[in-house]
Amino acid sequence: MTENSSLLAEFPTCPRDANKRPRVFASASGAHLIDESGFRWIDFDNARGSVLLGHGAPVVAEAVARAATGADGSATGWSPRVDTVLERLHALCGGEVVGLFRSGTAAVRAAVLAVREATGRPLLLSCGYHGYDPMWYPSPTLLEPNADGVVDFFFDLGLLAELLAAPERVAAVVVSPDHMHLSPEWYRELRRLCTEAGVVVVADEVKVGLRYGPGLSTAELLAPDVWTVAKGMANGHAVSAVGGSRTLLRPLKEVSFTSFFEPTILAAADAALARVATGEPQRAARAAGDRFLRHARKALADASLPVEIAGDGTFFQFVPATEELEEDFYRASDAEGLLFYAGDNQAVSAAFDDAVLTDAEQRFDRVCERLAGHAGTAPVDETARYRVAWNVLDGLRDAGRDRTATTELLARLLDD
Ligand SMILES: Cc1ncc(COP(=O)(O)O)c(C=O)c1O
Repeated sequence: MTENSSLLAEFPTCPRDANKRPRVFASASGAHLIDESGFRWIDFDNARGSVLLGHGAPVVAEAVARAATGADGSATGWSPRVDTVLERLHALCGGEVVGLFRSGTAAVRAAVLAVREATGRPLLLSCGYHGYDPMWYPSPTLLEPNADGVVDFFFDLGLLAELLAAPERVAAVVVSPDHMHLSPEWYRELRRLCTEAGVVVVADEVKVGLRYGPGLSTAELLAPDVWTVAKGMANGHAVSAVGGSRTLLRPLKEVSFTSFFEPTILAAADAALARVATGEPQRAARAAGDRFLRHARKALADASLPVEIAGDGTFFQFVPATEELEEDFYRASDAEGLLFYAGDNQAVSAAFDDAVLTDAEQRFDRVCERLAGHAGTAPVDETARYRVAWNVLDGLRDAGRDRTATTELLARLLDD
């Protein structure tokens, strides 16, 4: 199968080889994936961070298998599982009402359109990725709304302050939190600006929600009026949620979709949320990720390779000094069977035990050996840090700069 020969209309994000062909995996278990050739990978991608408990986690697999027999509700209508899942989400993330969806994209879109309708204000000020929907495409002109009334401020609080000078037209500020490239002070300042302007804050926690702990990662820093979560709630199964004030989310009353009560998805969410509520899988993943990071940072330093690592054990990102080194780094990692999410954030699962970590550390040492040709080359600089952060943020990392520097960086990064 070549890039252009697949019947699939979409080009989904997934591990691909150097020719952009999707890697095909025959099976998955815990921290491992087995590809078509029988090669065993250690999975740091984990379905872009949505597998927290490990592949095939027995608590989820058993609940799903039972629900598939019809023993646990039906796709036709309401079952006790709906209430349990809603109660679990409410206990973990708060809000007066909770809505259910199938994907992060659908949840965020529904949330912001509800807030727009409820406030009667037309504009959404956005930063970060919120899904594939064209409504989020940046406008060609900085600080101007796109055709869907969305203005991107690219995580730059100076630009946000300029936009909030006319708050009466702003329905909400929509943020995709990131804890690798933004500081706690960044969130506090964003909250201050929004409170001062009287503007609603929507936290798109589709990726980070429930991953850092048993709740929203910005509950204290942002106290969002509306939240969305997805990846942390069902170990990779297709469900997402929106929560917040009854008034702001009243327009969600119009939402219904045919698979709403599908019992295997509700079973997966119920079983995964029960584990997530204990905080144990998040602690296990964090500890495993931290151990891997300590090893990787030392191995890179010992090999004199100019690669920094941003973030912590929950989510981290490699920051190679050059694009050439970055390409070689992921090629070497592929050869050693370390399945990284190329260019983006890495997320270990709670299935990374001592044996997996020891194996991963040894494979990483061999990756460093393969990169010996880059030893002692120029160190990581600000240009590299902005470039790599852009891959994961779709915006600018939190660092001191003036308006001119912001404009220049945006012109360059948007053009790439
Ligand atoms: C912050 C954020 N919002 C929304 C989405 C879209 O979610 P989905 O891919 O489930 O549609 C993603 C996906 O990565 C995300 O990271």
